[in-house]
Amino acid sequence: MVIRFILNGKKCRNIVDSSTRLIDLLREGCGITSVREGCGAGECGSCTVLLNGNPVCSCLTPAVQVRNCEIITIDGLERDGELALLQKAFLDNDAVQCGFCTPGMILTAKALLDKNPNPSKDEIRHALGGNICRCTGYIPILRAVEAAAKQGRTTQ
Ligand code: FES
Ligand code: FES
Repeated sequence: MVIRFILNGKKCRNIVDSSTRLIDLLREGCGITSVREGCGAGECGSCTVLLNGNPVCSCLTPAVQVRNCEIITIDGLERDGELALLQKAFLDNDAVQCGFCTPGMILTAKALLDKNPNPSKDEIRHALGGNICRCTGYIPILRAVEAAAKQGRTTQ
């Protein structure tokens, strides 16, 4: 079946079947390889994308579910070649090592900060609870999200 949706601000039209997963639509149908498959079972968060502003595991989401919806991947955060605040904060705080988890981490953090620009440490921890990182440890990641939140508030 044909579905239409908005991907990182651009109109898309793709053919999927009822068993197509969103991650496969994005990676194979749309060439968005920043969406990473870790566990394939909803347990690691590396495949996270924003669906109408909410973080979802694209490995568990049927592609048909995004019909007429808006999807944002990490590729959609830059503006005119400039990294988003969260992306810069992850770099500045050494919150990226191999980078496998990073798109999912940043998109989950974006959804949090869009709804709650002044989260507590516990709220950040809770929001990122479904995102697993095998490299950095979580302290630099939490620090990066706090730094982006602070900078977002001061630049508003
Ligand atoms: S690959 Fe989707 S949650 Fe792990
Ligand atoms: S930076 Fe390697 S898994 Fe998180």
